[in-house]
Formats: sequence, C-alpha cells, structure tokens
Amino acid sequence: MLTVEEARYLAACIAELGREAPLEDMDRYIQHGDTSCLRHCVAVAYLAYRLSRRLCPRCDARSLIRGAMLHDFFLYDWHEKDAGHSLHGFTHPAAALRNAERFVALTPVERNIIRRHMWPLTPVPPLCREAWLVCLADKICSLRETARLRPYPFRPFFAARRRAGGQ
Ligand SMILES: [Fe+2]
Ligand SMILES: [Fe+2]
Repeated sequence: MLTVEEARYLAACIAELGREAPLEDMDRYIQHGDTSCLRHCVAVAYLAYRLSRRLCPRCDARSLIRGAMLHDFFLYDWHEKDAGHSLHGFTHPAAALRNAERFVALTPVERNIIRRHMWPLTPVPPLCREAWLVCLADKICSLRETARLRPYPFRPFFAARRRAGGQ
C-alpha cells in the first residue's frame, strides 16, 4: 500500500501528465483481458511507484510515473492483426515513444522506460533503475490482467475521473 502522501503524489503526477498528453485516449483500446490500456498504465504506474518506494526510494519518481503512464501510449487495437499489428510486441514501444514525443518533452529516463519496457522480447535491456522497475511492474500487471485477476486499483485516479464526469 502507498501512504496517503505517496498516493497524493502519484495522483498529482498522473493528473499533471494528463494535462499535457491525451491519456484518456488509451481507454479506447483493450490491453489484456478486459483491461484497457489506460487502466493497465495506471496499474503499472502504481505498482512501479510502490516498488520504487521500497527498493530505491531515491530514484526519479516523477519520471518513473510519467514513463509508466506513457509506456503503452501506442493508441491502436493491437488485437487487429489484419491492420498490420502482427509484430506489435516488438514495435509498440517505438510507436508509444513517437506518440508521447508529440505531446511531452520527455526526460532521458522517461524515454528509456518507454523504449525498453518490453525487454527481454526486445533485445536491449533497460538502462536505468526506473526503467527496470517499470519493466518488472509491466510483466506482473500483464500476467494478472491476462489471467483476469483484478488489476491493481489506484482509487484516487478513478475517483477523480468519476468526479470529472468520466467512468
Ligand atoms: Fe507494452
Ligand atoms: Fe504494458
């Protein structure tokens, strides 16, 4: 669990990023099971941040959270193999990075998180601690979602979204 202060920080970082990039667009696409890309990214950001507080409290939390929120910002339905997405597993980090760079001036850490999160499927490993943590959190969340276990909920994000008229 995050402390109240940590939860506030995570929610504030996601809200700040949401004013720069259309994160909500990710809710239109399913990632795994019945979890949308947006919910997946929130779960990965939550878990990676939670792990970082235990394992490397001095790492760059803001970049870790922002990189986690953008790591699957590829904005298409990868289940449609006919639409040229058969190599999605290998190519989507670059697609997410291209999309993110249209909206956000990324830090090197954020760029590395997005580009390297599919290791070891893509051969070059992450370079920094933040990217390793997101890579690990992504694997854990993906397995849970594929098994249709409950995704890690980050309630403050979804409560704020409901208050703003979302779902
Ligand atoms: Fe991904
Ligand atoms: Fe992911």
